[in-house]
Amino acid sequence: MSAEPGAAPWDRLFARHVASDTGDQITAILDQSGATDAIALSGGFPHPDTFPARALAESQARVLAQPAALQYGPTRGLPGLRDWFTDWLGRAEGRAPTEDELLITSGGMEGLGLVTRSLLDPGDRVVVEGPTFFGALVGFQRQLARVETVPVDQDGLDTDALAELLRRGSEPPPKLLYVIPDYQNPSGLSLSPERRHALVELARRYGILIVEDVAYRELGFDGERHPSLWALAPDVVAQVGTFAKTFTPGIRLGWVAAPARLVAQLARAKQNTDQCTGALGQLLLEEYGRSGGFDRGIAASRDFYRRRRDLMTAALDAHLPAGVDRTHPHGGFFSWLTLPGQVDTMALQQRALAAKVSYVPGRAFYAGEHGGNCLRLAFSRVPEERITEGVRNLAGVIAEAIAPAATR
Ligand SMILES: Cc1ncc(COP(=O)(O)O)c(C=O)c1O
Repeated sequence: MSAEPGAAPWDRLFARHVASDTGDQITAILDQSGATDAIALSGGFPHPDTFPARALAESQARVLAQPAALQYGPTRGLPGLRDWFTDWLGRAEGRAPTEDELLITSGGMEGLGLVTRSLLDPGDRVVVEGPTFFGALVGFQRQLARVETVPVDQDGLDTDALAELLRRGSEPPPKLLYVIPDYQNPSGLSLSPERRHALVELARRYGILIVEDVAYRELGFDGERHPSLWALAPDVVAQVGTFAKTFTPGIRLGWVAAPARLVAQLARAKQNTDQCTGALGQLLLEEYGRSGGFDRGIAASRDFYRRRRDLMTAALDAHLPAGVDRTHPHGGFFSWLTLPGQVDTMALQQRALAAKVSYVPGRAFYAGEHGGNCLRLAFSRVPEERITEGVRNLAGVIAEAIAPAATR
């Protein structure tokens, strides 16, 4: 006899973190913002025009001829890719990881997941920026960590507010501070050099691990580059990176550069997830890197996304009603709007979709009930010629929502 569909006692069977899943709410928000024929200012995907499809097609047969390409590989990554990338990081950051400080991962999310599972027990304290990347947030919450938020301003995470939180905070101190110092998702803001120094000083003083997510670090538009937290303090920082925005997200690749003791734990955890990152993708990236394609691709992507940022910010300046605040991104994929008063961007979503434009409501980027009057716009994947129209439509919806009732 077959079981009744849905008859299993899921409430008893699911793990505790699933039963209290706050990720569902975020998934619902994202589903809403993506599921239409609207001009999508919601999706934070990279643009396919930046993917190295031709270079990959050309190198494919050569790479496949290598015996390692279709085989399991070492958990920490293939030696050739590790060699190339160690040199590359050394040039980019002014510090190369030692052999035991580097782990190749299957994307940035895997790196974050490995760090989360290796450090956090239920009830442990984690500090994040408000707003922050929802993928990391959901990961911390699923580990049943206590997430505390420190606000960001024009100079990134407010280190005075963090110092205050740590000073008055109950023992034990947080284990982990998660920060996206460059062209943050979702705000587009970056951490100032002074605050970078302040942050590592606080981490050392209170014995906290900084998890530095550098997903957009290479996509700066104006040539300015601040030192990475990992380069400043490799003793207390784990740098989590992804090749999704500089190579392709279709080949899941990323890295963690961190103290050797931590990398050893992450490698043990990885043996329990996918055991090793796919060899074929690692070999393709190595060839792309050694041929110079990786560096040329990054330079081209900067120009590509800068043009889109310019279009979006010009449209925002031309059409947004007075009283709406926007960030000024110098890189990355995103701009962040703050609406005046009590406007609820979740509720506004339906009206925006009716006006054929989508965004992500700000609440998705906070652990608590914040960000209700904010929203994230992405300029990365929307067709370039539709950016202005999308912003104009959105501005119309916002203007109507914030206008005093009498003038409606
Ligand atoms: C800040 C941040 N970290 C990590 C990731 C995930 O990277 P990956 O696609 O390599 O898992 C993203 C992707 O959107 C991101 O925005």
